[in-house]
Amino acid sequence: MIKFENVTKAYPDGTVAVDGLYLEAPTGKLTILVGPSGCGKTTSLRMINRLIEPTSGTIYLDDQPTSGMDAALLRRRIGYVIQHAGLFPHRTIVDNVATMPVLLGESRQKARMTALELMERVGLPANFAKRYPWQLSGGQQQRVGVARALASDPAFMLMDEPFSAVDPVVRAQLQDEFLRLQREIGKTIIMVTHDIDEALKLGDQVAVMRVGGKLAQMATPSELLTSPADAFVADFVGRDRGYRSLGFTNVAGTVAVSEEAVVQLGASAAEAQARASGAWVLVVDGGRKPLGWAQPELIGGELKREHLNLSGTSATSTGTMRQLLDAALSSPSRRGVVVNDSGELIGTVTASDIVKAIEAEPHLETAR
Ligand SMILES: Nc1ncnc2c1ncn2[C@@H]1O[C@H](COP(=O)(O)OP(=O)(O)OP(=O)(O)O)[C@@H](O)[C@H]1O
Ligand SMILES: [Mg+2]
Repeated sequence: MIKFENVTKAYPDGTVAVDGLYLEAPTGKLTILVGPSGCGKTTSLRMINRLIEPTSGTIYLDDQPTSGMDAALLRRRIGYVIQHAGLFPHRTIVDNVATMPVLLGESRQKARMTALELMERVGLPANFAKRYPWQLSGGQQQRVGVARALASDPAFMLMDEPFSAVDPVVRAQLQDEFLRLQREIGKTIIMVTHDIDEALKLGDQVAVMRVGGKLAQMATPSELLTSPADAFVADFVGRDRGYRSLGFTNVAGTVAVSEEAVVQLGASAAEAQARASGAWVLVVDGGRKPLGWAQPELIGGELKREHLNLSGTSATSTGTMRQLLDAALSSPSRRGVVVNDSGELIGTVTASDIVKAIEAEPHLETAR
């Protein structure tokens, strides 16, 4: 656990970067600090590993005040990932990752072995080991930064905008991989971002800060969307928060799924016509996995792959309301495809089925 108790940082020029902050980041969880530029996120993070000393107040690591600890020892317990990865340019990738263990007295050979394992865990091929940072893309460098922070197996991790320097597609990939990794390693993490979508996607809990270094709200992503504490938080989490909160509501048993007649590739136009409901029929493979929708009246001869309309997304019965609604709205037939976790068809739902279920969902009442 990392705990802030009434922590303030005033810089010598009088700027109050952090003002009376109380915050608790629970053990094994990912806590996100989010807020507009200049609200004191980086300052808060750097006070934890004492790269910046608080003006007043106390920060605790597992109930021990950090002020009484040796700063070098403290930093060994805390992995630190900074924006743009901050790699050593003149060291190879493997030596970048092995930096801390070697500093801590481990043999270079053993540290490199561990580094290679960590590289694999964060999705870096082993043949990158001998490259230098400038020979890697931005996303790959970020991965090296994460591997390096993990190298001394710290219980705590501080991450300052670790995924911000890359394009949106790579960013989403890094986020997904990081979530998977965190599920395995369960570190106590505080991550800073100014991107509310990243905060809502990754955080077990999210602390929203406002300029002046004050905490505006600390809540789970779902609570932030459904009950923002004030107008600032409401504005910060965005205007589509009612819709986005559906991303945190499970489908599980709340929406009635209808049976859907299907055909397979190779079927005749007449058969497709017979199975169609309205203008559209759903096409599946031999294992009942949906392939796409087809319009029988446009098929001459037999149903082929080129007849498929692939625009619809599918939702799983264990997924979220948002995926389900998206499946219905993106489907050319307006019937959203629902599959089980193996990808086999369960049936379809319409947007109005979903809206009915949402209206019956008491939790969502507060969102409106
Ligand atoms: N060394 C310093 N001396 C004076 N003021 C500082 C110093 N470092 C930061 N500040 C000020 O403290 C405030 C908080 O800065 P901080 O870097 O913590 O913000 P941030 O939330 O991380 O912002 P960003 O999202 O832009 O990274 C800002 O107003 C900044 O200008
Ligand atoms: Mg910052």
